[in-house]
Amino acid sequence: MVRESESGLPVEPVYGPDALAGWDAARQLGEPGAYPFTRGVYPTMYTGRPWTMRQYAGFGTATESNARYQRLIANGTTGLSVAFDLPTQMGHDSDAPLAHGEVGKVGVAVDSVEDMRVLFDGIPLDQVSTSMTINAPAALLLLMYQLVAEEQGVAAGRLTGTVQNDILKEYIARGTYIFPPKPSLRLVADLFKYCRAEIPRWNTISISGYHMAEAGASPAQEIAFTLADGIEYVRTAVAAGMDVDDFAPRLSFFFVARTTLLEEVAKFRAARRVWARVMREEFGARDPKSWMLRFHTQTAGVQLTAQQPEVNLVRVGVQALAAVLGGTQSLHTNSFDEAIALPTDRSARLALRTQQVLAHETDLTATVDPFAGSYVVESMTDDVEAAAVDLMRRVEDLGGAVAAIEQGFQKGEIERNAYRIAQEQDSGERVVVGVNRFRLDEEEPYEPLRVDPAIEARQAERLTRLRAERDGRAVDAALTALRKAAGGEDNVLPPMKEALRARATVGEVCDALRDVWGTYTPTDTF
Ligand code: 3HC
Repeated sequence: MVRESESGLPVEPVYGPDALAGWDAARQLGEPGAYPFTRGVYPTMYTGRPWTMRQYAGFGTATESNARYQRLIANGTTGLSVAFDLPTQMGHDSDAPLAHGEVGKVGVAVDSVEDMRVLFDGIPLDQVSTSMTINAPAALLLLMYQLVAEEQGVAAGRLTGTVQNDILKEYIARGTYIFPPKPSLRLVADLFKYCRAEIPRWNTISISGYHMAEAGASPAQEIAFTLADGIEYVRTAVAAGMDVDDFAPRLSFFFVARTTLLEEVAKFRAARRVWARVMREEFGARDPKSWMLRFHTQTAGVQLTAQQPEVNLVRVGVQALAAVLGGTQSLHTNSFDEAIALPTDRSARLALRTQQVLAHETDLTATVDPFAGSYVVESMTDDVEAAAVDLMRRVEDLGGAVAAIEQGFQKGEIERNAYRIAQEQDSGERVVVGVNRFRLDEEEPYEPLRVDPAIEARQAERLTRLRAERDGRAVDAALTALRKAAGGEDNVLPPMKEALRARATVGEVCDALRDVWGTYTPTDTF
């Protein structure tokens, strides 16, 4: 049977027992923690330190979300991960007309530094690492986090965490973009420079394949389009005058973990090997930390079913196992009820317990890269790598990630694969337990968590009070300075920080940038 690669090119069968004739494990594999990092980014991996259990959470106002973070910390989570509501992600205030009905819904509403202060109330920022899933306004949320740390007396040099800050995948799959690509990439480079100088331990970007995977990307497409975005960010920062080793060690990545465990382990191993080669061979990075692909994983939300939701506990367990066997640095396990509504405290705790069983009851942390030398996983690693490199070459031929996005290439490829998956599910060729096989005649009722609709009004009152109490002239002056920087060459983060310190809101800061940079309108594909 001749396998087809993603690009439709025939790939010779590699799974037979003679697949690895003459294959030299030591030569091909290398050691964990050493170039090309196929076996993991650290020499000791989980034997040195288990992955970070980092549960994505946030809803309602900062008060509700702070309470959830306190419960997660009490339950043993080892890293925070903030979900923001759509108005915050899109740079609109909670009382903006566009925000109506979305305030506090898919994440927490943050309009100003005052909300940020409440969000981390009672959480010492020098003792946690915090991921923030924020893209177009990533700089604003990072600066407000730094302002709150300053109020806690925590020096910026001690802050650890990540902003997602990956605007390119927003154009491809997720959609929370604001500005056109050019100013968006300028903002990414400004944030890289600012963090190099002010917050050196901060991971400045989480280059994401997760959302493309959730939109239908295959494993090879997921890593190919993610690494192609990574190459675009590296080129942008180098063109902005940075030395590659000044920022590359703080790049990070974010992938999905699907139920197809063996292929996912191969995918993660292939991604590390390709990135290591790109950074050393193409960009001439000399610092081994620049070659390391460190990543966060989230279990595949799109594979959760609303039917027989408890079955999702098994899916999430298998997906989490794939991430751990694949060498993830940080992991979010979905709650079994997420296909129905926001997780309850109980389902969120169960998701975390899944990771704790893997870390503390199994022997997964007793060794490094247990699949090393497995002929099927090594062959699949080669296979996924070959298909991904072929796709990366096609993106290059189109002029790189941004040019390919503007031609709709990635979006079109993913949509074609999503259509193939849907056809396979409709025909029953791709089994979804409880959905197209092993169904129940009658589903049992499930009581989801509901967000209080009064939250929007409460958040709007906070904004009215904030605008009445702050020094309006100072805010106007700071926003004028920000517009001036956005129109020139200077880094926009310092004036942005002063505006936020004066309690300018997320909407006002983003509107100031919209005035100068305009907003992005997507091209149609398919
Ligand atoms: N040996 C030596 N050192 C080790 C080690 C080992 N075995 N294991 C860990 N360490 C060290 C590391 O070097 C690091 O030290 P440093 O900070 O000085 O570099 C420290 O211990 C922490 O280890 P990691 O950096 O590996 O782990 P973190 O958890 O801190 O960071 C990350 C992981 C992937 C690099 C980081 O970018 C991260 O946390 N990302 C999370 C992203 C995230 O949560 N995203 C959520 C997205 S949800 C979303 O998009 C929305 C929805 O639609 C899905």
